[in-house]
Amino acid sequence: MAKILVATEKPFAAIAVNGIKEICDNAGFELVLLEKYTDKKDLIAAACDVDAIIIRSDKIDKEVLDAGKNLKIVVRAGAGYDNVDLEAATANNVVVMNTPGQNSNAVAELAVGMMIYLNRNGFNGSAGTELRGKKLGIHGYGHIGKILAHIGKGLGMKVYAHDPFIDRIIIENDGVVCEEDLGTLYSKCQYISVNIPANNQTKGSLNKELLSKMPEGATLVNTARKEIIDEAGLLQVFANRKDFRYISDIAPDCKTEIEEKYAGRYFFTPKKMGAQTAEANINAGLAAAKQIVGYITDGDTTFKVN
Ligand code: 3PG
Repeated sequence: MAKILVATEKPFAAIAVNGIKEICDNAGFELVLLEKYTDKKDLIAAACDVDAIIIRSDKIDKEVLDAGKNLKIVVRAGAGYDNVDLEAATANNVVVMNTPGQNSNAVAELAVGMMIYLNRNGFNGSAGTELRGKKLGIHGYGHIGKILAHIGKGLGMKVYAHDPFIDRIIIENDGVVCEEDLGTLYSKCQYISVNIPANNQTKGSLNKELLSKMPEGATLVNTARKEIIDEAGLLQVFANRKDFRYISDIAPDCKTEIEEKYAGRYFFTPKKMGAQTAEANINAGLAAAKQIVGYITDGDTTFKVN
């Protein structure tokens, strides 16, 4: 009987875990749960005798992969798989998959929610600003970007997007202005939402030069990864411009300096929570379980990323 481990330092909603269990039961697989663990040793111990692992932002490195003697597949229930050592997985004959699009709506809603929260001064009763009539620049037009464009237009924003990997027709068919040049996107839009993966090309790529291009009322919204920001550059932009604001789903390493110096110009979630809704957990968790069953029973490698 195949053994499936759900290893989530930040657990799924209970309803999603029940759904995963049902899929495992129906396939004749055994489900093992490791939730809220704080020590990597617990993950390594749990990985030892399982065939498959479902994770979220949990780190799957060489040590974990080497420990998983029966391991065949790891599914990242979510979009970004920068937390998995793909090279080590491939070397160990372990297939890695993600579940693209399954939690995107939750992330897009959080991005907009955080913009409104900061615009209304944390709902403290003082006069704030509105999104209507402002320009929203979507940096990365994948699943999240597409939903954000729809919400932005609903809010009366003018929506622009840049994505070198997406055909401009797809962007324009959504009624969104396609900007082929990233700098132009940043120089046009007061609000920029970043929805790109963290990889060798993107890490540190949001630098002083790019952020400085933003017009008056600049608000950068990062629901992607903190690593894509060049934090030294971010601090310089904060220092140079009184209008610059930064919203991020998970605080940057330079959080304390920003908090001490730039009150009212930032919002950081205490824990990464873009995908933390029951709906997103159900969508991504169940998709992950189904992909594992499909791979183990039929060799289906759809969504393989290594
Ligand atoms: C993702 O890459 O899917 C999101 O960042 C969500 O991450 P999480 O599952 O750790 O909340």
